[in-house]
Amino acid sequence: MKIAITGHTKGIGRAIAAKAQTLGHTIVGLSRSNGFDISDTEKVFNEIKKCDAFVNNAYMPVYQTKLLELVLNNWKRNNLATVINISSKLSYLEPPYRNLPADYIEDKKQQNKLMHQFSILGTPRILNVVLGIVDTDMTAHWNVEKMKTHAVADTIFNTLTMTNPLVQEIVFDVPYFNWKAVNTTKEQ
Ligand SMILES: NC(=O)c1ccc[n+]([C@@H]2O[C@H](COP(=O)([O-])OP(=O)(O)OC[C@H]3O[C@@H](n4cnc5c(N)ncnc54)[C@H](OP(=O)(O)O)[C@@H]3O)[C@@H](O)[C@H]2O)c1
Repeated sequence: MKIAITGHTKGIGRAIAAKAQTLGHTIVGLSRSNGFDISDTEKVFNEIKKCDAFVNNAYMPVYQTKLLELVLNNWKRNNLATVINISSKLSYLEPPYRNLPADYIEDKKQQNKLMHQFSILGTPRILNVVLGIVDTDMTAHWNVEKMKTHAVADTIFNTLTMTNPLVQEIVFDVPYFNWKAVNTTKEQ
C-alpha cells in the first residue's frame, strides 16, 4: 500500500512509518520538516488523495480534525482506502478539565465522533487508535510510566492484518493507569 502519514519524523508517526516500511509499504511522509504543514490543508490533502491509506497522526488544533473530515468524505464510497486516526484516551474524560488541555480533548472527541460516523457507513476502512501515554517529545514533561512507540506501531499493524472481523477501533494504555487521578492533580 501507499500510505500517507502526517508527523512521520518523530514519535508515534516515525514508529508507524518505520513499521510500515519493514512490511513493504511505501510511505508518503508529510511533516513541516519536509515542507508539509497540516495548516496548509489543501497541499497536504492533495498528496493524501494519491495514496491508498492515510494515517492522521500530526496534531495541530483544529487542522488535524479538519484534515480527517476532508479525507473521510473524499473516500466516503471507496472500499479500497484506509484511514487510521491517532486519537487520545484523554477524549474519554468529561469537563471540568482541571490541569488538562481542553482544546486538545475537544479536538480528539470530535475525531472520535467522525470515525464513529464512518464506522457506520462501512467505507472507507477505518481504524481509530485511542492511546494512553506514549513516550514521545509531546509527553516529555509527564513523569509517569509510558508506552513505547514501537509497541504502539506493532499493535496497529497486527490489527490491520485482520480482515474479518474488521477491527475499527482500538484502545491501549499503560496497565492500571488512572486518568481521573491525572485530571485532579496540579503537576505531572
Ligand atoms: N504521545 C502521547 O502520549 C500521545 C497519546 C495519545 C495520542 N497522541 C497523538 O499521537 C499523535 C502524535 O503525537 P506524538 O506524541 O508522536 O508527537 P511528537 O513526538 O511531538 O511528533 C509530532 C510529529 O508531528 C509533526 N508535526 C507537528 N506539527 C505539524 C504540523 N503542523 N504539520 C505537519 N506535521 C506536524 C512533527 O514533525 P515536524 O516538526 O517536522 O513537523 C512530528 O513528526 C498526535 O495526534 C497526538 O495527539 C499522542
